[in-house]
Amino acid sequence: MSAPGATDASAATAGARGSLALRGVRKSYHGTEILRGIDLDVAPGEVVCLIGPSGGGKSTLLRCINQLESLDGGVVAVDGELVGYTAHAGHLTEASDRETSRVRRNLGMVFQQFNLFGHLTAVQNVATGPVKVLGRRKAEAERRARELLASVGLAEHAGKYPSQLSGGQQQRVAIARALAMEPAILLFDEPTSALDPELVGEVLAVMKSLAAGGTTMVVVTHEMGFAREVADTVVFMEGGVVVEQGPPAQLFGAPRSPRTAAFLRRSGGEAHSGEAQDADSDAEAAIS
Ligand SMILES: Nc1ncnc2c1ncn2[C@@H]1O[C@H](COP(=O)(O)OP(=O)(O)OP(=O)(O)O)[C@@H](O)[C@H]1O
Ligand SMILES: [Mg+2]
Repeated sequence: MSAPGATDASAATAGARGSLALRGVRKSYHGTEILRGIDLDVAPGEVVCLIGPSGGGKSTLLRCINQLESLDGGVVAVDGELVGYTAHAGHLTEASDRETSRVRRNLGMVFQQFNLFGHLTAVQNVATGPVKVLGRRKAEAERRARELLASVGLAEHAGKYPSQLSGGQQQRVAIARALAMEPAILLFDEPTSALDPELVGEVLAVMKSLAAGGTTMVVVTHEMGFAREVADTVVFMEGGVVVEQGPPAQLFGAPRSPRTAAFLRRSGGEAHSGEAQDADSDAEAAIS
């Protein structure tokens, strides 16, 4: 991969804790360019919802942000620090694995398929990262894990294994697990799309309370009601580019691009829905 330009890098590295900046991010698979130069700024405490048609590159973008995939061009900066590079007197050199891991630790990721360890209880799933990666003592990590599980409405399920939990409960364990690493930014890739419809609300409610608490979040979602209610900024991606971004009222109410308008018509995003209200009542149930 070619080193990104120093101009990109200096433009990306002005941020405070919880900030994220992308400049010119490119990614190809087998000669096909999937991300074609993505610029994105997320301010501390901001909630950005990424929407767009299947295959548009949303998951690839999240995977590039947290370096599960290498970039073919451009830079990502978290809290003003480049991921994967070190800047020295205007020149960029590849950072050591250790340095990259340190910066990446500021990013938490919640996947569509929860990805819990089946042989560990909920508490153990949440505590294992802090013990293994952050070097916390087991008793302290498990005490904190119980607090986090209580905060996502799972105090009574802390000793259960994933197979004993519903999909919505498993996804809330996965959110607690991400929070246990004390990330500055949480990335979500369609966190509710593997859930039965009646379980979606409880997960959205937890995410909503995180957003209200000031967590910086980038959420890939098909839940237009959630995006409309919770996002500060909605980003519409199609064909590997950001077509349009703006506050939800503007993007949903008066999209500037015909491509955004066509997508919203197809996905029902332009119609008002009751989802947001459901998330509200579920919030009270889920957050004790
Ligand atoms: N590891 C990979 N190898 C080859 N092609 C890939 C790989 N990952 C993604 N792609 C391709 O990149 C394109 C974008 O995929 P991506 O998963 O980022 O889309 P998406 O916007 O998340 O879609 P969806 O809404 O269906 O989840 C697709 O054409 C996909 O086939
Ligand atoms: Mg995807």
